[in-house]
Amino acid sequence: MRNDLLRRLPVEQTTPQDYGGGRHRLRVVYRRRDLVILGLGVMIGAGIFRIAGVQAATMAGPAVIVSFVIAGVVCLLAALCFAELSSAVPVAGSAYSFGYVAFGELWAWFIGWALILELLLAASVVARAWSLITAQTLHDFGVGVPSWLAGVIGQERGFDMLALGILMLLIGVLATGGRLGLRTLWFMVLAKLIVIGLVIAGGLRFFDAGNLRPFVPDERPAGAGGGQTVLDALLGGTPQAFGVWGILAAAPPIVFAYIGFDLIATSAEETEDAPRNVPRGMLASLGIAIVLYLGVAVALVGMISYRELDPARAPLAQAFTEVGGESMGRVIDIGAVLGLTTVILVLLVSLTRVVFSMARDGLLPSGLATIGRYQVPSRATLVAGGAAIVLSQTVNVLTLEQMVVIGTLFAFLAVSAAVPALRRARPDLERPFRVRGGLTVPLLAIVAIGWLMLNLQVRTWSYFGLWMLGGLLLYLAYGRRHSRLRQYHDRQPPAAPQPAPPPDRSPFNVPPVTPRVGGRPYGREQHRSGSGTHSGPQPYLQGKARPHVPGGPPAGHGDQPYPEHGDRRHSQQAAPPYSQGGPGHYSRGETGTYSQNTGQPRPRREDPQGYRPWGPRPYIQGGAVPYPEEWTPQPQRPDEDRPSTGEDPDERWHGGHHRR
Ligand code: ALA
Repeated sequence: MRNDLLRRLPVEQTTPQDYGGGRHRLRVVYRRRDLVILGLGVMIGAGIFRIAGVQAATMAGPAVIVSFVIAGVVCLLAALCFAELSSAVPVAGSAYSFGYVAFGELWAWFIGWALILELLLAASVVARAWSLITAQTLHDFGVGVPSWLAGVIGQERGFDMLALGILMLLIGVLATGGRLGLRTLWFMVLAKLIVIGLVIAGGLRFFDAGNLRPFVPDERPAGAGGGQTVLDALLGGTPQAFGVWGILAAAPPIVFAYIGFDLIATSAEETEDAPRNVPRGMLASLGIAIVLYLGVAVALVGMISYRELDPARAPLAQAFTEVGGESMGRVIDIGAVLGLTTVILVLLVSLTRVVFSMARDGLLPSGLATIGRYQVPSRATLVAGGAAIVLSQTVNVLTLEQMVVIGTLFAFLAVSAAVPALRRARPDLERPFRVRGGLTVPLLAIVAIGWLMLNLQVRTWSYFGLWMLGGLLLYLAYGRRHSRLRQYHDRQPPAAPQPAPPPDRSPFNVPPVTPRVGGRPYGREQHRSGSGTHSGPQPYLQGKARPHVPGGPPAGHGDQPYPEHGDRRHSQQAAPPYSQGGPGHYSRGETGTYSQNTGQPRPRREDPQGYRPWGPRPYIQGGAVPYPEEWTPQPQRPDEDRPSTGEDPDERWHGGHHRR
């Protein structure tokens, strides 16, 4: 059982070429700069438009800038680890797949389950934030809404028509393979970047150094929102805001603002030259985001005193309104509405990718890994998107931002730990991007992420524990039994026993049994012997069909001499792809080691065609472990999987192009 749970996916089987090929392959559409845009598209959102102001007002004061630096450095450490792993294992599952190859199935499940929490909840949270900002925008532009509508838009909890509408719209677009060109994404992200640039430039115009004093406000008991952190509980303290502890406590919520660089790794299967482009795209987008966030944080706390910031309002727009820059507030409104739209969109796409990967591995129902008639994983999109809708409408998700963060940090932690694990397990793997400095970065990342996690609230940890417990039960009830890796291994016979063929019976009289894997025969299931079709008992065919294993021919064969050269019965075509004989197995030119009743070694003729009847099959012992037929690459149509030229404005970037 333990071995089952910790069975690792061979790296070679995770790559799109070997593993995700055939029906489950995603189409290549991204270049490196697209990844940067994708990263900025998902990173710059509620975190900067809303959370920066909230944390400045309630936790850190002007020193929220330091909190942004802390969170940024921790994310950078994690990003370096992500970069190394995504260059070695460029697949859609991201942290989930890294966990599968480094730690085995159970850990992979936990990581995948945490990623689902992160993405599902983040999509719901940002949809709510989108609704708040859109309602504010309508108000700022003087668009009147009927009173019946006013009560169901821009709500923090309960039914919200705008949150519902944006989720349904985007899910519908994704699930039906609707076209949203890369250019559209570029346009929306560039618009957002222009707004951020204007915020920084405009904010610096109103910069007043007096607003930065005191830079680190005195520590005081936290207000209603500041629950006890794990660190508080461990040290026996009460929740504090501001002061040094406030700066540290503000860093984990700010990680929310950086969420997104990790999602670039989920696009690896859709990126040209992914081993090089994914790490660079990821680090570049994170670097840009850190600079922009610091710029915005400085502009925000320099424009207005943290004491005047109202966490309930859109803080950036509020700051500009306070200093007389109302028009800037409107620009921000538009930027935020556009910006948050791309955040939700990319979150939903990444969520679908993770669900798709887990379903492809059998840990979630395999129907979620199917490609619908729109050539996209419609079911995964509808199911995951439906869950996001339900969550956003029934739970007060805006209070659960820390749950998103803990899921994210858990995945970061696992990825950081996976770097040394994979280096040890597979030093031979090609790593076009390798973190320098030995284990320094992964270890620093583990310590730093662990520290941030300790600064999360006890309540968050409790909910997270429940979520993971639910995940464990689901895994035991479903995933473990349906795991394709496990099923594959279960179908294999036990390690090949020492051959003990009955005396006087030639193994060559037993043509290979056609193995079945995944219910499909590899070939014909005929058993011919030199004297006709074999009709005797075939003990090794009872129950699950198995590959031919050494163990001697079934009863019913008469004495047969070893075949002569050119013996028709000894046909290369009939031979399965046996590997080189291992210890205890016959191989070309070896002297036979099994004996007849006499106990004497029996000389064995050299097999002129290299047929080694007793050799282990390569997928039984050692060597590469090919997966079942349906997991192996299928012939490709000539026009598929070409890298994107990026010239086609209609190119579908979001839905992934899957091959049937
Ligand atoms: N980083 C994204 C945001 O801030 C999730 O909205």
